[in-house]
Amino acid sequence: MDAWTTVYEEIYTDGHGRGTAAPGLEGWVDALSGRPLPAETMWQWRDATVDRLRGLRPERVLDVGAGTGMIARVLGQEVQSYHAVDLTLAGVKDLVEDPERPASLTFDRCAAHELGARSLPGDRPDLIILNSVVHYFPDRDYLGEVLANLLDLLAPGGVLFLGDLRDARRDPRRLRERALRSEPWAGPERLDELVADLARRDGELALDPWEPGDAHKVRTTVLARCLQDSDLARYRVDVLLRPGDDPARLDHDPEATHRWENLGDDEQARASAARRVLRDEGVVDVPDGLLCPFGPSALEAAGWTPVGSAGVHMSRHSPDRLILTTEPLIPTGHGAHAGHRKQAGDQTGKPQ
Ligand SMILES: C[S@@+](CC[C@H](N)C(=O)[O-])C[C@H]1O[C@@H](n2cnc3c(N)ncnc32)[C@H](O)[C@@H]1O
Repeated sequence: MDAWTTVYEEIYTDGHGRGTAAPGLEGWVDALSGRPLPAETMWQWRDATVDRLRGLRPERVLDVGAGTGMIARVLGQEVQSYHAVDLTLAGVKDLVEDPERPASLTFDRCAAHELGARSLPGDRPDLIILNSVVHYFPDRDYLGEVLANLLDLLAPGGVLFLGDLRDARRDPRRLRERALRSEPWAGPERLDELVADLARRDGELALDPWEPGDAHKVRTTVLARCLQDSDLARYRVDVLLRPGDDPARLDHDPEATHRWENLGDDEQARASAARRVLRDEGVVDVPDGLLCPFGPSALEAAGWTPVGSAGVHMSRHSPDRLILTTEPLIPTGHGAHAGHRKQAGDQTGKPQ
């Protein structure tokens, strides 16, 4: 933990002094190329994340691992209260010291596991954000302890957002891609060696996106990142955890009426049929175009559904397939009893 505090303090203090990234984007490096991610990619990433969080219509936010305040600086202006914590506040020094800062935006220097009801400045949050933080946690036990604690802190009907989570199901592909970038000429044996070496040296935590929800018996929604192609789009996901919401639904993909392969004879026909049916009905088994040689990217598919990026879910059963739904995200405070969802019916994946 201390090591990460030092790492981040240095990045936030000297990052752009060393010419590594634009101000506010310190520390954001493309895991595939090792170079700072382009500012345009990062601001798109920030906007897409904030849009998704806004869709939950939160009132009281707790942002754990707030970093440079990329989310806090925008969402913090729009909600009743926003409390941001991090191992280091060096990335938000300007905000912490700003005398004009709204009283509803508060900061604290602490680690995720130190949070408790008494350390919060006000009422329980209805949205807790851990965005791009979990992969720095030392191990699964630490994550389990933090999540148990944070899920307890949530107000009834609240949502815990694990954003930018590294998807372990796609990790072998990511490591292969990295290995090939470093030695494009590597033969199969050398490639295996490189992948094994990268896996050994990789200190970041990657998870099956359904694992935290299963472990804590809370309903899980897994959304694809709807972004231009980068490692952030290919290998990361957003996970929403909702305590108290029908645990029987844990293992199910969202309901959808149509199956991609039945929508037409070729890709073009399927894409245009999908756009048409997505005005009111979902589609399952959609190949993720960033990983498959055909099929739409999550970003493209978000433009097809009436609810935008909220409608692009991941399939639990095959990591390279998407599920497109027409249902908006359930706002915080509207848990199992608000009747926002269709009845769990027998329509899932039903061929036409
Ligand atoms: C990649 S930055 C993400 C910043 C921010 N959430 C965002 O999305 O822009 C990761 C941040 O997590 C913080 N962090 C890592 N481990 C933490 C922990 N155990 N408790 C609190 N913060 C932590 C780091 O200090 C760093 O600022």
